[in-house]
Amino acid sequence: MKADLVIRGISQLVTPEGPGPKHGAAMRHLKIVEHAALAIADGKILWVGPEADWSGEAAASIDVGHRAVIPGLVDPHTHAVWAGDRLADFEARISGVPYEKILAAGGGIWSTIRATAAASRGELISLAKPRIEALLRSGATTIEIKSGYGFSSDAEIRMLEVIRSLSGITPARIVPTLLIHVPPKEPAKRAEYVSDVCQTFVPEVARQKLAQVVDVFVEKEAWSAAEAERIFASAHQHGLAIKLHTEQFNRIGGLELGLRMGALSVDHLEACSAEQVSTMAGSSTIATILPGVSLHLGLPPAPGRALIDAGTAVAVGTDLNPGSSPLFSASTALALAVRLNGLTAQEALVAGTANAACALGLSDAGRIEPGLPGDFLILTGSDWRDLVYTLGSNPVREVWIRGEKVAV
Ligand code: NIG
Ligand code: FE
Repeated sequence: MKADLVIRGISQLVTPEGPGPKHGAAMRHLKIVEHAALAIADGKILWVGPEADWSGEAAASIDVGHRAVIPGLVDPHTHAVWAGDRLADFEARISGVPYEKILAAGGGIWSTIRATAAASRGELISLAKPRIEALLRSGATTIEIKSGYGFSSDAEIRMLEVIRSLSGITPARIVPTLLIHVPPKEPAKRAEYVSDVCQTFVPEVARQKLAQVVDVFVEKEAWSAAEAERIFASAHQHGLAIKLHTEQFNRIGGLELGLRMGALSVDHLEACSAEQVSTMAGSSTIATILPGVSLHLGLPPAPGRALIDAGTAVAVGTDLNPGSSPLFSASTALALAVRLNGLTAQEALVAGTANAACALGLSDAGRIEPGLPGDFLILTGSDWRDLVYTLGSNPVREVWIRGEKVAV
């Protein structure tokens, strides 16, 4: 076996195993190789095993000094492109004004839509770049980014074009999503807007291959399940997958719609009931939980523990956005999922790697396995559980993407 590079001195190499989402108890199964080595060729993983068993040739070799190695994290839910800030909202919320009330009054998401419209493409790229770098430093080697602060078809497409440009200037793998976020304020214009989404936004995004997935925010202050159903039917017609922001504040049928229409994931779930936890059991749809939102908005944490106990595949994301989750760290999202949602360290790692990749429809991320891209992290410590233990200091020492160390 001939490698470009062999990495030695790995105290523990820890990874989920095999393709597909890990459901329920399978989220606690990790492959752990002690005193490991990792060989890379052509940007891909060539070999993984105990260091003593490596017998191949390597053009170069490095020793990581008895540190743990895990797969690159996958952040399956961000809104990393925005302009302006939401500091006034934050102050209002701290003094007791609810998030939904600010949105209903034309602030919140609407204020970010206005600020984003006023920014040039160049400004949006410059604003998003350091956010992506922060996520990358925290260990995210694959990052989903949604549109959704555009509103009009042109503005949403402009956001997706900005997201495409970002993928050219970061080593991270960027996965774009078309988000149909909030409806027109005038009730009479909603049906026409949905038609426009189905006849213009979705076909154009599919034609230009700007995204593979359509997300809809199903909520009292946003879209109804019936409106989302029309949008999803159009997404499917154009060969795009679907996912939802749902059960964030209210239960209005979004989760059930997502399961029925085969959504890749249902995201948020802070308001998910015990009955709905049972409904999800056995579904192939992934439950993506976002602990940063519970922390920042003071919402009840999504029932991560109960979902896993019922046999569901759970993923965790930052939901990086200015309004509900200014969380710039994928590893901290996992650390919060342990504290707030009751995940074990093992479950959190699977939720932030293999399952998060599946929530994006990816089968080649979130695992360290021969043949897969060489996306992995060298941690600061020798015990991988530092990843979810550490708060406020970076447990990630080095980020590697496609077999190369990334400058972060
Ligand atoms: O994931 N809830 C809807 N959308 C985003 C928040 C967007 C914002 O507040 O700007 C979310 O929480
Ligand atoms: Fe979100």
